[in-house]
Amino acid sequence: MDRFSILFLIATVVTVVSGIRDDFLRLPSENVEGTRWAVLVAGSKDYYNYRHQADVCHAYQILKKGGLKDENIIVFMYDDIAYNESNPHPGVIINHPLGSDVYKGVPKDYVGEDINPHNFYAVLLANKSALTGTGSGKVLDSGPNDHVFIYYTDHGGAGVLGMPSKPYIFASDLNDALKKKHASGTYKSLVFYVESCEAGSMFDGLLPEDHNIYVMAASDTGESSWVTYCPFQDPRLPPEYDVCIGDLFSVSWLEDSDVHNLRTETIHQQCEVVKKKTIEPLIRDGTHIVQFGDTGLSNQSLFVYMGTDPANDNNTFVDKHSLVPPRKAVSQRDADLIHFWEKFRRAPEGSSRKAEAEKQLREVTSHRMHIDHSVKHIGKLLFGIEKGSKMLNSVRPAGLPVVDDWDCLKTLCEMSVRTFETHCGSLSEYGMKHMRSFANLCNAGIRKEQMAEASAQACVSIPDNPWSSLHAGFSA
Ligand SMILES: *[C@@H]1O[C@H](CO)[C@@H](O)[C@H](O)[C@H]1NC(C)=O
Ligand SMILES: *[C@@H]1O[C@H](CO)[C@@H](O)[C@H](O)[C@H]1NC(C)=O
Ligand SMILES: *[C@@H]1O[C@H](CO)[C@@H](O)[C@H](O)[C@H]1NC(C)=O
Ligand SMILES: *[C@@H]1O[C@H](CO)[C@@H](O)[C@H](O)[C@H]1NC(C)=O
Repeated sequence: MDRFSILFLIATVVTVVSGIRDDFLRLPSENVEGTRWAVLVAGSKDYYNYRHQADVCHAYQILKKGGLKDENIIVFMYDDIAYNESNPHPGVIINHPLGSDVYKGVPKDYVGEDINPHNFYAVLLANKSALTGTGSGKVLDSGPNDHVFIYYTDHGGAGVLGMPSKPYIFASDLNDALKKKHASGTYKSLVFYVESCEAGSMFDGLLPEDHNIYVMAASDTGESSWVTYCPFQDPRLPPEYDVCIGDLFSVSWLEDSDVHNLRTETIHQQCEVVKKKTIEPLIRDGTHIVQFGDTGLSNQSLFVYMGTDPANDNNTFVDKHSLVPPRKAVSQRDADLIHFWEKFRRAPEGSSRKAEAEKQLREVTSHRMHIDHSVKHIGKLLFGIEKGSKMLNSVRPAGLPVVDDWDCLKTLCEMSVRTFETHCGSLSEYGMKHMRSFANLCNAGIRKEQMAEASAQACVSIPDNPWSSLHAGFSA
């Protein structure tokens, strides 16, 4: 019998014998029963997405200092940032303009193309035989008393989260995996932080409230998430950086966890901090931090999931965050433009680098225009000039998933995403913003043949542009 079971037994016996109230003997919060596990996922690749891997590395450092063991922390990170030719400090990743390295020591459990939905579910469900590729093989091998923390950061769209290796994570599959995890009885409670655009659409109307799962999401359906610590916005960022190095929701919780004794701070309190830091500077853009599942779990201290850094023992949480100045931010979907613009701006006049950067900037913007235009055009072809954009952009009420027939959106991709991509080229990260339009096409009962016809008509040819190229595979 382990120490905790003995303590529990003593507590029960004493309660029965002397009638002393239970909570008199309640174990101090530091004796959290079970093991803490964490799964950290950066869903992107490429240097202009620096920030997602930076967030994940930072999260690892917090959990490590909090006392979690490497064997219980599973990291998905493409690992093309630290030693990227564009990184001004090879081998170093920072997540704050004045911050120090967060890359050192991060386990590389799943890197490169091994980061895909299939492996993510295999890890979540501790199904080693389902793993593919050359990862560490670490899985979420948790037991019934264990506490699980999952953190995901990347791009997203209505009902989807990005992955560096296609296809996307679809909300229906993610919730099925969580339900399976629950059915397997292999956790006591699970906390899931998600940063992406439209993160709430991954859970709204899908995640049960009685599965001991609590979700905090960086944005609601139809909303952007935000990027911070960007080159021309934050004068503290060392000039050699031409990328944004943090995401606003992410750095808000990460920096809050960095400095506090997490025994004395609840998830709910952290959520309030994140709301203040994330939303207040952006109030006009209407982004909301949204919570799903068993919201009662937010009563628990963060310690249950993250442990705590002994160096913070005296830094008890107090509600002083109003002193923090608002941060500047750009939309998750526009952060790559900042990088390409900075590359262009910084290249010497008349150099080949300047010409190359200009070409890149031109390509990325023309790809965006092409995608936006094509989707709009398809809407008009299918629903008529007046109703087209209304049908594509309508947002379903809260509590309803973005689509009823996930197979339509997913397997029957020919009908929406795949058909579109066949004729119009890859949606790419930016194009994820149109996932709602595709979901709405499914909801309106548009058939595969109609979609194929409209796509063929709207896109006469796939533009000759690396962003449109289908070499990376279909999104769905
Ligand atoms: C660096 O990032 C670029 C994209 O920005 C990518 O094409 C390249 O493969 C990366 N380099 C390394 C060494 O991972
Ligand atoms: C594990 O994955 C394999 C291969 O995908 C599958 O056949 C098997 O049913 C899975 N096992 C469990 C317990 O889910
Ligand atoms: C927090 O916990 C208390 C006591 O366990 C409970 O009564 C309350 O409803 C919980 N709060 C939420 C938001 O569920
Ligand atoms: C916290 O405060 C106590 C009492 O003042 C002190 O003994 C201890 O060293 C402090 N701990 C840390 C981590 O600063």
